[in-house]
Amino acid sequence: MKLFTTLGTAVLGLAMLAGGAAAEGQRDAKNISFSFEGPFGHFDKAQLQRGYKVYKQVCSNCHSMRFVAFRNLADPGGPGFTEEEVKALAATFQVQDGPGSDGQMFERPGLPSDHFPSPFPNEEAAKNANGGALPPDLSLITKARAGWYGTINQFLFGIGGPQYVYSVLTGYEDKPADVSIPEGKYYNPYFASGPAIGMPPHGTLADGAVEFDDGSPNTINDMARDVSAFLAWTAEPKMEERKSTGFAVMIYLAILAGLLYLVKKKIWSDVPH
Ligand code: HEC
Repeated sequence: MKLFTTLGTAVLGLAMLAGGAAAEGQRDAKNISFSFEGPFGHFDKAQLQRGYKVYKQVCSNCHSMRFVAFRNLADPGGPGFTEEEVKALAATFQVQDGPGSDGQMFERPGLPSDHFPSPFPNEEAAKNANGGALPPDLSLITKARAGWYGTINQFLFGIGGPQYVYSVLTGYEDKPADVSIPEGKYYNPYFASGPAIGMPPHGTLADGAVEFDDGSPNTINDMARDVSAFLAWTAEPKMEERKSTGFAVMIYLAILAGLLYLVKKKIWSDVPH
């Protein structure tokens, strides 16, 4: 009994710690659901492919993803592009290489083994182009940011990173009269370091901006949802493997527990009480 009380207290303590992480005044992320939530959730390949397209056409104008290599897009459990497709899409990016024989760095089309580059040569240039705000690398953003702070939600669905990205993209509003926002910034109550954000409204997404081959809807909200799912995958590319291994381990442990119980009963059966 004492063990349970201790465990219970520990869990409660952890939950409260997680609960205290909210920045002051930051609004909780919008509670939208994704196919990959819960212990049996899977990434939706078609959605990841659409999310990639949104990243490529819109977000990659400002944000890098330096922990993701182009070839990862063909890995199992991901968007499921073919090797040929990966070669072609890598070549649409320019990456820096060198120095060449003349001692100078040069640009060349990307190869599958390259990582998603930054569109800017360095951080200063990136800030300069964005009114002083640095567009962060997006590879791990859905792990780096917690989206909501409800204890039960976090236990069941994770920390809400994709919901956070979705909420930032769709959360631009007219600023309340009592809040002042510096010139060149926008009001976004969902932004972790907000409410003033240096990213232009909706990360420059506009209704219909990206056309999907499968004819999927492409309002700002739809594209924000797809790119958030894609960024959940970039932050945890082995999620499906982890979940199926976890499930196999649970079954194994359940069978083992049953066997141990039977063995214990058998061994102790002739001991007089
Ligand atoms: C025109 C440049 C630009 C584009 C295009 C753009 N962003 Fe941003 N983004 C920024 C800048 C600059 C910041 C940093 C804002 C700040 O610090 O005030 C930012 C911040 C963010 C943040 C918040 C990061 C944090 O620290 O919590 C997210 C999430 C984000 N962008 C996602 C996206 C996604 C997804 C897209 C594509 C749909 C996108 N952005 C397109 C410039 C851009």
